[in-house]
Amino acid sequence: MADQPLAWDDAVAALAGASGVVVLLGATDVGKTTLTLQAANEAARAGRRVAILDTDLGQSEIGPPGTLGVVRLEAPVATLGELKPRALAFVGATSPFGHLLPVVQGTRRLVCHAWERGDELVLVDTSGVVGGRLAEKLKLAKLAVLDPALIVVVQRDRECERLAALAAGVTDAPILRVQCPAEVRAKSPAYRRLRRSIRMRRHFEQARVLDLNAAQARVLDAWIYTGVALTARQLQTASQALGTPILHGETTPDGVFLCAEGRIDKRGFVTLQEEFGRKRVVVTPASLFGSLMVGLVGPGGQGVEIGLLQAVNFERAFFSILTPARSLAEVVQLQFGRLRVRPDGAEIAHLRPGDL
Ligand SMILES: Nc1ncnc2c1ncn2[C@@H]1O[C@H](COP(=O)(O)OP(=O)(O)OP(=O)(O)O)[C@@H](O)[C@H]1O
Ligand SMILES: [Mg+2]
Repeated sequence: MADQPLAWDDAVAALAGASGVVVLLGATDVGKTTLTLQAANEAARAGRRVAILDTDLGQSEIGPPGTLGVVRLEAPVATLGELKPRALAFVGATSPFGHLLPVVQGTRRLVCHAWERGDELVLVDTSGVVGGRLAEKLKLAKLAVLDPALIVVVQRDRECERLAALAAGVTDAPILRVQCPAEVRAKSPAYRRLRRSIRMRRHFEQARVLDLNAAQARVLDAWIYTGVALTARQLQTASQALGTPILHGETTPDGVFLCAEGRIDKRGFVTLQEEFGRKRVVVTPASLFGSLMVGLVGPGGQGVEIGLLQAVNFERAFFSILTPARSLAEVVQLQFGRLRVRPDGAEIAHLRPGDL
């Protein structure tokens, strides 16, 4: 039998006085972020070293959408958005599905960051995806890498009891149940989209286009510059077969990849099978590389900044990237995201993991 849930004000006081990593779980629109902020403000007021780790990709409060972020509160704040993130982790999508590993990996890196900086309380805010087996696997993996001292479950009814029971399989942290207040309001999909676009636009306000040499940074999670380039003859064969210029192509351990300038004639795949044997052939339209969210990562996973890929110059092997970063000199890894978005925050497309 579950314990009686705590009322809101008691929960704020309990969280503000806790130590170590505290993870908040709950369905969408139950007040997780509000509780996190109120507890952090109270802890900051009491002079405690408190950090917030935001692992919500879509309704992210710290850093732009598609990233995880961590901040230290030096003093109480009205909104988390006014704080500059102390560190970011890149995922490049607004939903964790299809990106579970980077989410878990980023969560781990940022909680370690908070520990190294000596935060005594780390409040971890999470997304409201709690139902279904993927959500359960994600939440359990997060708990495993966070190794929390306390789990807080905010719920209206008993919708998180299954997750709370599963949590016992990965951690012996106690679970504090909190009653979702009646005043909490649901955020509509349009409102969520608007908030994402505002946060994205703000992030790119001071951005400019910088070039990154392909030889300088390893690409992660896309095929370009990861394999062996096709020969001019192979590109010509592919261009003729598909009826549009093939700007670039590579053979990687995952198959043969081609970047097409225009619409392709699918009948040409028969010719490609003759050319490339039984290998899987994937064609990526060049347009998919435009306005694509990318992560710029420094040595050891440090100094993460984000960018919007403007274009790939295949002739001279460099990327043009719109970014608020002042320099790309330290970038060692270029992580490809799956969100195509304009710098004003308007989302163009959410690509699937296999699209690039
Ligand atoms: N204790 C409260 N009293 C009144 N309103 C509240 C309270 N807590 C939250 N709200 C309001 O309810 C809405 C949802 O709250 P919040 O965004 O904190 O929920 P969430 O669980 O973090 O949602 P999400 O799943 O999107 O992350 C917000 O508009 C917030 O201002
Ligand atoms: Mg929230």
